[in-house]
Amino acid sequence: MAMIFDSHAHYHDNRFDSDRDAVLRAMPENGVGYILNCGTELASSRLSISLAEQYPLIYAAVGFHPEDLEGVTEQDAEACFALLSHEKAVAVGEIGLDYYWDASPRDVQKAWFIRQIRLAKSLDMPVVVHDRDAHEDTLTILKEERPKGVLHAFSGSVEMAKEILKLGMYIGLGGVVTFKNARKTVEVAEMIPLDRLLLETDAPYMSPVPYRGQRNDSAKIAFVAEKIAEIRSMSADEVIEVTTGNAKRLFGIA
Ligand code: NI
Repeated sequence: MAMIFDSHAHYHDNRFDSDRDAVLRAMPENGVGYILNCGTELASSRLSISLAEQYPLIYAAVGFHPEDLEGVTEQDAEACFALLSHEKAVAVGEIGLDYYWDASPRDVQKAWFIRQIRLAKSLDMPVVVHDRDAHEDTLTILKEERPKGVLHAFSGSVEMAKEILKLGMYIGLGGVVTFKNARKTVEVAEMIPLDRLLLETDAPYMSPVPYRGQRNDSAKIAFVAEKIAEIRSMSADEVIEVTTGNAKRLFGIA
């Protein structure tokens, strides 16, 4: 049996405060071999690194999420980016654009997105990209900047997926693919070359059916793998094996 690689989770989230250690210790017996924990600002990026130090299966992404830019100082940025030299920091993320919440002005979001992409490129690291209701600007920036990385929780059309694939990037799919009315995402799961697909939770969010609405964790990726396997007429184990290989390749994990 191949081990699951959860390419996007937030175990620093306070929804894991009561049982974080038990949940994470149980991962290997639940089929999960690797987790990328993504920070969203300085504090959670530090927690990502500390989780990666405590648990062999956890790797860290550090960076500033578009919803968490308000009040960030240059000192915060420097302290956060210094974490990238840690041996278990494997990506800059999560970074991107969020025009649904618009928590910061769009020109500010774009400037941080571009700055962090350029940082990742200078370190030869991949980026973990968040795009909510900002498909056009996200694509424009990715086309101009050309980072390696993954577009996480992909919510765009097949046409946009094709553009992302042309850039050599990976596409992350999670619980949404199991939802009713997820027609667009199912189409993407159908057409995407298997060697560009990553599985993810976005835990504690985005639980797949039959746990929709409950707290998510990496073991529930089994339901996502099963759904994608069904869509593509292959075995869930094969989906897990290939996607884990993809994530290890992208994040440089042996
Ligand atoms: Ni996330």
